[in-house]
Amino acid sequence: MINIQKGTKDVLPEDSYKWQYVESIMRKIAETFSINEIRTPTFEATELFLRGVGDTTDIVNKEMYTFTDKGGRSITLKPEGTAGAVRSFIENGLANGVLPLKAYYLTQCFRYERPQNGRLREFHQFGVEYFGSASPETDAEVILVAKQILNEIGIKELKLYINSIGCPTCRKNYVEGLKDYLRANLDNLCALCRERFEKNPLRILDCKNEDCKKICKGAPKITDYLCDDCKTHFESVKNLLKKTGVDYEVDPFIVRGLDYYTRTVFEFVSTAIGAQGTVLGGGRYDNLVKELGGQPLPAIGFALGIERLLLLMDNLLIVPEQKPTPKAFIGYTGESAQEYAFILTNNLRKNGVIAECELIGRSVKAQLKYADKKGAKYVIIIGDNELSDNSVSVKKMADGSSQIVSLDGVIDYLKNND
Ligand code: HAM
Repeated sequence: MINIQKGTKDVLPEDSYKWQYVESIMRKIAETFSINEIRTPTFEATELFLRGVGDTTDIVNKEMYTFTDKGGRSITLKPEGTAGAVRSFIENGLANGVLPLKAYYLTQCFRYERPQNGRLREFHQFGVEYFGSASPETDAEVILVAKQILNEIGIKELKLYINSIGCPTCRKNYVEGLKDYLRANLDNLCALCRERFEKNPLRILDCKNEDCKKICKGAPKITDYLCDDCKTHFESVKNLLKKTGVDYEVDPFIVRGLDYYTRTVFEFVSTAIGAQGTVLGGGRYDNLVKELGGQPLPAIGFALGIERLLLLMDNLLIVPEQKPTPKAFIGYTGESAQEYAFILTNNLRKNGVIAECELIGRSVKAQLKYADKKGAKYVIIIGDNELSDNSVSVKKMADGSSQIVSLDGVIDYLKNND
């Protein structure tokens, strides 16, 4: 017996309708915003994530599934969707097409993390990326995509936190201010944060260590350091959210776990699913396209973790729409009826009726039990008598009533009755 890998999960046939339900809502809402799907490979050159996600992040330092392939290349399974989308955008010359380019993806991601509820090593993201627009309306629209998906699913309890982490110019001043503040507390920070102090002090604001968290509470706020342009941009985004009825709270300490962000960052957080409460995160990344070799072009996006979303739905008792059950089960007794039932079932399907026939050769009693378990609405059992009389009893499972129908008329009968 070979077991499943730690931090990975099977989605069983009885549960996959939940995935299909949320995925169909995501696709539908994306369509209403005129966002088309992009699919990029599962693995990319490791260099893409070193430069894209950032070499001071936990993802790059500790969590990547990296290996050397048989051709000696360093390959990494994608830990997130943005870097691959940016690579594809540049490589396919999409900057020369119609802008803004709006894309969404549904993809698996891989991070070597310590598994816990809502944290896996293979997980799935629905993500949206907009390329080529720097306007605050774009930030608001991207947040509205997220909001609309959550609304459509019926999730109201997720709280939206937003922040602006400025542009490289104002962030430089902030980092100095933050370092001045942290310097006095350096000895009380965890070992990792002492390292971060030199390499990337913003990461300290994201540390989960209780001592670090306490120290960070009194840290200066980046929103007090924003340059005029960044401040105006942030004010406009907040105004547009207000005008479109989106509730939010400004959290000046959100920095996000990836290095590419500029200006607006945001997270949708739940208190109902434990420590891994961030269901969705995103923000602007105006310098990434250029950093990965493209022409300078602003961009913004977000990703939503599907496993965390489903966990939240479970906790909130939100029941996704079930797949329809079979309309008809066509059973049989005897060899000639077996072939007849098989062909009739196939013809029902050709006529759009969800139908099943007996495939294991069980007794009539067992066939009825199976039909009942599968939730079939109507059951027909065909035997030699039915074949010679050209008529069959169609049983309605809901009330146990039966109707005699000619065999030739079964398809029409099932098509026309609910
Ligand atoms: P992220 O915050 O790293 O952002 O991930 C986005 C979402 O993916 C999280 O909020 C969470 O729901 C889910 N997620 C992350 N790690 C795990 C895990 N180990 N297990 C289960 N779910 C997880 C990004 O990935 C950015 N690329 C988002 C973005 C797109 N920013 C701009 N565009």
